[in-house]
Amino acid sequence: NKRTTFHKKRILITAGPTKEKVDPVRYFTNHSSGKMGYAIARQAVQLGAEVTLISGPANLEVPAGVKHISVESAADMYDAVMEAYPNQDVVIKAAAVADYRPKHPFNEKLKKQGDNLVLELERTKDILQTLGEKKKHQFLVGFAAETTKPLEYGKQKLEKKRLDAIVINNITEAGAGFSGDTNKVTYVSKSGNTIDLPLQSKNDVAKAILQQVAKELKDDR
Ligand code: PMT
Repeated sequence: NKRTTFHKKRILITAGPTKEKVDPVRYFTNHSSGKMGYAIARQAVQLGAEVTLISGPANLEVPAGVKHISVESAADMYDAVMEAYPNQDVVIKAAAVADYRPKHPFNEKLKKQGDNLVLELERTKDILQTLGEKKKHQFLVGFAAETTKPLEYGKQKLEKKRLDAIVINNITEAGAGFSGDTNKVTYVSKSGNTIDLPLQSKNDVAKAILQQVAKELKDDR
């Protein structure tokens, strides 16, 4: 029975981009629409999970039955995720979190000044890395958006961030990655299990990821 796959399981999903303030009118962001993470949230509810969705700015309808927490910056997302983390059984991090943010955001609108402008950026905290370090019972799934050597770089993230599995996106492939309604990913588990999923709707990608997670949770017991 579909509805009982994740019975009594709490699943935390992150989605969307983050917005990093430059000044009161400008910000840095990226092309994430939130569609991939929202699709996972929708499917997880269908499979009976108690779902928390923490998302950056996305123009999408929150799926019914999902507890939604809306955030803006990487720092906001960090705080919200850390607060929810201890109670979760599974965490799936589909969000495209900024790696850098302006070091000194301006409180007044930045005026034009000369031909060049240099803005200093500083690293944001890596949420997923921190989850890996604090991990207790949670099953931790990361995403990797790559343009070169996707499998190699993706597997490096799996190890470095101490994940149970990683969903690797080669974002140079047609129909894959940011914004569209489809995706093409490779699921790699800690045990080395590698599954190349076909190009399909983000809903179907979400189903396939969750089926795999359910299987691995069961094998773990
Ligand atoms: O939202 P859509 O338009 O549907 O697009 C979907 C997607 C392309 C955004 C999604 O499929 C995807 O690949 N998400 C991860 C994008 C990303 O930022 O990947 P990354 O390789 O930079 O980061 C690796 C992992 O670390 C991700 O799980 C990310 O959430 C996490 N991370 C990164 C930086 C940071 N400061 N904290 C993090 O937790």
